[in-house]
This record gives sequence, structure tokens and C-alpha cells, in this order.
Amino acid sequence: MPAPKKSPRLHPDLAEVLLTEAQIRRRIKALARDIKAAYGDGEFTIISLINGAVMFTSDLMREIDNPVRLDCIRVSSYGAKTKSIGTPQIIHSLTLDIANRDVLLIDDILDTGKTLKLVTELIRKLKPASLRTCVLLDKKARREVPIEADFVGFDIPNKFVVGYGLDFAERYRNLPDIGVLKPEKQNAAAWATG
Ligand code: IMP
Ligand code: MG
Repeated sequence: MPAPKKSPRLHPDLAEVLLTEAQIRRRIKALARDIKAAYGDGEFTIISLINGAVMFTSDLMREIDNPVRLDCIRVSSYGAKTKSIGTPQIIHSLTLDIANRDVLLIDDILDTGKTLKLVTELIRKLKPASLRTCVLLDKKARREVPIEADFVGFDIPNKFVVGYGLDFAERYRNLPDIGVLKPEKQNAAAWATG
């Protein structure tokens, strides 16, 4: 007898799933082809913005067969908030030398644009041969700084999303799909201990 059809998983804290694991996987394969077309067979250095871009970077780089180097930059996070406040800060910077190297900067989501602006300015000061940027998600409606990424996975509406590396107060990064967090879960009190 055929197994009963499984209903799609919906984490109880999510209002809806925006992008399924399968959709993300398919899009990453196409993105990898575009990136490959831009770099040819040459070596490049991937710079991943942690923690958010961890899963995206790990899946994307496995679709790319060029020789690559990997480094990470950590930028201050929102904490238990859903809107960025003030200017992001670099908490941990590069360890690799990127002078005269082709660099691909990877982030999970382009929102106001402040993070990408800060980090691209830092990288440009280190005189790479080239710099391209790649984000999985683009929330164009929220842009405050005029900046666009060279490679974009998905344009998404102005909703706070979690999963596949994206967090709220460091939770939900391990969800395989990307979904919209329920409004009642979008406040620090929802995570108070005790
Ligand atoms: P920006 O500096 O406003 O462009 O914000 C970019 C950073 O904010 C991303 O690297 C994410 O860490 C975080 N972020 C922005 N929007 C969301 C969201 O909807 N869910 C989770 N994190 C987000
Ligand atoms: Mg981030």
C-alpha cells in the first residue's frame, strides 16, 4: 500500500513558508551557473557574512568547481529585533590577504543595504582585483542605501523571514525552508527565559 502523502511541514512559529528547501536548491544551481559564467575557470575568494550566510555559502560553493578560497566576516546583528538600528559594525574581519584577488562576497539577505555597503567599502580598501556580491534574498522595498547585488537568488516581499541560516534572536537558522515569522514571535519577550 502506498505510504500516506505527507502534508508539507510548517513550523508552528511560521505564518507561511516563502521558499521551500527544493526551490532554494534549484535556484542555487542556477546561481552557481551564472557565477561560473562570470569567473570562467579562474580562482576566486569567497567572503561569507556569518552567521546568516553559512548555509547559503556552504550549498552554493559546493555547486562551483572553480578553485576557491573561503574567509568570513562577522557583522553585528540585530539582536532580538526585526529591524536594523543604527550602523552595523564589523566584529570579526578577514584573515586572508585579498589584494589582487577576485572576490565574491556572499550574504543571506540584502535589506536596508547598510551591511553590504559597510563590507564592500572595507573590501575595496584592501585592493582586490575585482569584487562581486551575491545575496540569496533581496528585500528591495526596505532599501535605504542605493546598493544592489550582482547575483540575487530571490526578490522577496517586505516581511521578516527566518530559516536556512536566517535568524530571529539566533533562533530558526536550522529550518530547512525560509518562512515568515509569526508577528507574535517577533519580539524579545517571546524569548524571555524562565
Ligand atoms: P541590512 O544591513 O539592513 O541590509 O541588513 C542585512 C542583514 O540584516 C542581513 O545580513 C541579515 O542578517 C539581517 N536581516 C535583514 N532582513 C532580515 C530578515 O527578514 N530575517 C532575518 N535577518 C534579516
Ligand atoms: Mg546577516
